[in-house]
Amino acid sequence: MDMDSALVVGNWKMHGTLPDGLRRAEDVARFLAGGDFSAVETVLCPPATLLHTLRDRLGGARIGLGGQDCHFRSEGAHTGDLSAAMLKDAGCAYVIVGHSERRADHGEDGALVRKKAEAALRAGLTPIICVGESGEQRDRGQAKAAVEAQLAASLPQAGRERVAVAYEPVWSIGTGIVPRAEDISGMHGHIISLIPEKVRVLYGGSVKPDNARGILGLAGVHGVLVGGASLDAPAFCEIIRAAAEAS
Ligand code: PGA
Repeated sequence: MDMDSALVVGNWKMHGTLPDGLRRAEDVARFLAGGDFSAVETVLCPPATLLHTLRDRLGGARIGLGGQDCHFRSEGAHTGDLSAAMLKDAGCAYVIVGHSERRADHGEDGALVRKKAEAALRAGLTPIICVGESGEQRDRGQAKAAVEAQLAASLPQAGRERVAVAYEPVWSIGTGIVPRAEDISGMHGHIISLIPEKVRVLYGGSVKPDNARGILGLAGVHGVLVGGASLDAPAFCEIIRAAAEAS
């Protein structure tokens, strides 16, 4: 992981079958081939069903792949789950863990997220560990305390220099509402101050082409985790361009 390049991650969530996923990824690859984006590291996290094909078809492109989740064990009787080693085998260098949708939909807590992050590190993947306060916590003035508690529970003890953290306020995900610039940089500064190791801290939550430049220019923001806008190749490419210009 190159600490100096901006990391732009597209989280496709549960969207896409092969024809549209491949088209979207190839559009991004063509865009990257058409300019100098060496200051940006671009990663796509498609549904796991598309990973092998994207790996094979994007071979020469400057696009990394990531999983959206992994199990904390390396193998076993866990129907429906994927291990970090399987994601690595499918071409991934990254895996998102602790996304608020997984914490909400699957009841994942910090202890489980930590075990997943540790499994990712063991497999040689960079875990992107998501944290972020709820709207209620923010309204009560507890955003920093909530993120601090999530970090304390979710960060692995060893290998922290190999993780990335994504600050994703839950109330901003998929809503079109983003925190004020000072709140983003304040939270990123807080996260950085809590982790002695040098880690990249990404911002996620309604990142769009029209706000990406501003967000990526903020102190302490080392990249973005993009959901909805990553499903639209031109919009995602604009965000990559903003990252290149900001770095
Ligand atoms: P969004 O999602 O960009 O659609 O708000 C971000 C995320 O969930 O990672």
